[in-house]
Amino acid sequence: MVNERLAYLNGEYVRADAACISPLDRGFLLGDGVYEVVPAYYHTLFHFEGHIERLNQSLKGIRMEPCLNLEEWRTILNTLVEKNKDEHQWVYLQVTRGASAVRSHGFPKDTPPTIFATSYPNPLKSKEELSKGIKTLGVKDIRWKYCQIKAISRLAYVLMHQEALDAGCDEAIVFNNGFALECSVSNLFIVRHGVIMTPPKSNQLLSGITRDCILSLAEKNKIPYRETKITERDLLKADEVWITSSTRGVHPVVEFNAQPIGQGKAGPLWSRMWDLFLEEVNALSH
Ligand code: PDD
Repeated sequence: MVNERLAYLNGEYVRADAACISPLDRGFLLGDGVYEVVPAYYHTLFHFEGHIERLNQSLKGIRMEPCLNLEEWRTILNTLVEKNKDEHQWVYLQVTRGASAVRSHGFPKDTPPTIFATSYPNPLKSKEELSKGIKTLGVKDIRWKYCQIKAISRLAYVLMHQEALDAGCDEAIVFNNGFALECSVSNLFIVRHGVIMTPPKSNQLLSGITRDCILSLAEKNKIPYRETKITERDLLKADEVWITSSTRGVHPVVEFNAQPIGQGKAGPLWSRMWDLFLEEVNALSH
């Protein structure tokens, strides 16, 4: 497949389909690396600094040093967003522990990291389209114990996500010991009696940048919210359920395990939150 999009690889800008890395790269052999997904609206990065801060936390979590500084990342990401042209995009960036001659689990010495980034189109969906909502399936948590690290070893997420797709759903809600933690590629929110709720940050979920953005919009607009544990029963009794991520913003859920959520359609608080979120996004267009 021809991919004329621009990518960044180890200091150079290349066509994404011409970028080459060694099969000895530890990212390829061991899943030894971390990544970020940064949205850009109107050719402008959204919450860029928060994403790089989280990247550096992920690197620290796998005992790697920050490989580039904030301004170096800004230049790379802005160049990709500018050259790849689409009005709205998501930038993918990945850092691995590099390639070493012999496959070994121990950290290699003096091996430079592999740094890769590219971007993809991410059209902003209309409110009407979003309000159709998505269907979700509850799945068993099969992940490791460091889910706060945005690691490239995504096999557990792939399997949980595919389980949901195979059941005719769009997203998997991950359950551990009776509690819903997050989803396979997004964070989880519920609404009950006008209060927004989301599971508290822990090593069992990724601390989403969109999650933080939604909570700060709630705070600014005096919408009550709580970071609290969520059970299957809470989900079934919720008036509304939403998922959040950098690629989807805030998206309503209308079904969980083949049961309707609330009235089985997007709710009024989602509608308000989407408007507030869009206001923040549209401010980038000025
Ligand atoms: N995933 N939880 C998980 C497991 C995720 O994979 C993601 C995002 C989120 C939301 O985080 P944020 O709001 O910072 O995007 C939560 C990205 C989009 C991905 O892997 O493609």
